[in-house]
Amino acid sequence: MAQSLPEYMADNRGFVDETLDRFVPGADHEPRLLHEAMRYSLFAGGKRLRPILAIASFEIVSGSNYGVMPLAAALECVHTYSLIHDDLPAMDDDDLRRGKLTSHKKYGEAVAILAGDALITLAFEILSSPEFTRNFPHSRVLAVIRDIALASGSRGLIAGQVWDMWFEGRVADEEAVNRIILNKTGALIRASLTSGARLAGADLAQLKFFSIFGEKLGMAFQIRDDLLDLEGDPERLGKNVRKDGKRGKATHPSLFGADQARNMINNLLSDAAHAIEPLGERADTLRLITEYIGQRMT
Ligand code: IPE
Ligand code: IPE
Ligand code: MG
Ligand code: MG
Ligand code: MG
Repeated sequence: MAQSLPEYMADNRGFVDETLDRFVPGADHEPRLLHEAMRYSLFAGGKRLRPILAIASFEIVSGSNYGVMPLAAALECVHTYSLIHDDLPAMDDDDLRRGKLTSHKKYGEAVAILAGDALITLAFEILSSPEFTRNFPHSRVLAVIRDIALASGSRGLIAGQVWDMWFEGRVADEEAVNRIILNKTGALIRASLTSGARLAGADLAQLKFFSIFGEKLGMAFQIRDDLLDLEGDPERLGKNVRKDGKRGKATHPSLFGADQARNMINNLLSDAAHAIEPLGERADTLRLITEYIGQRMT
């Protein structure tokens, strides 16, 4: 990587946003309110971490970013849908997201639910579009679709969300909080890395390195999110803080305290860095990303 990580992230955010803009119907397409709501949440200014992880892993294996952007855009659609639904009154009941009113506060619950539904469907439309599939062997595309479907579904992200809700106000142990974050956040972050690597034709040994890296990074990312809920600046985060305590969420900081949670983040990030050692210097982007995750304030 010839650039600094902030430059690399900014450039790729630009590519991802251009690609999303091409695939998401314009707000002038009927039903206009639905397309407006999809775009409102997508273009509210997320970090684009999952797309960037997919692009980075693809580049590490293939040496270029040619053809990967639709995959990156699809991952962002799945992630943004999960945020819209996570914020609903029936779930975390949040008013602010990405520095703006949450979808249901702006458009009402029905449109917010439907915008989320339409985003997850759009993700799989993008992944099966000729613009994406014509550049790769179809066996790789199918493996990518399966990877993302499994990570997003009832044995991945949605399982994590179910357990996150179930444990509200209940006593959780370490196994339970690990299971919650590994699924609600770790699964899609891991799939971002493995889908990028699969698309580029990684072999099974390489896939294993990306998979372990993604799992550890994803868990560290969520524990950092839980710490930021305790200690972060709502202006910078673009969301309200100190909500998890009020809702009785089962998190690592609530179970072990902030200092111990910080140690856990550092241990997970060093395990993540260890997992990609065999990939050598080519994986330096991912090493920089682990440092960034440990310190992120947004
Ligand atoms: C927020 O994800 C939800 C979690 C999994 C903690 P991000 O922190 O990646 O949110 P955006 O995409 O930057 O808004
Ligand atoms: C969100 O976790 C995980 C998913 C959306 C799958 P949180 O509920 O902690 O995320 P924030 O704090 O609302 O962004
Ligand atoms: Mg939640
Ligand atoms: Mg939430
Ligand atoms: Mg949170």
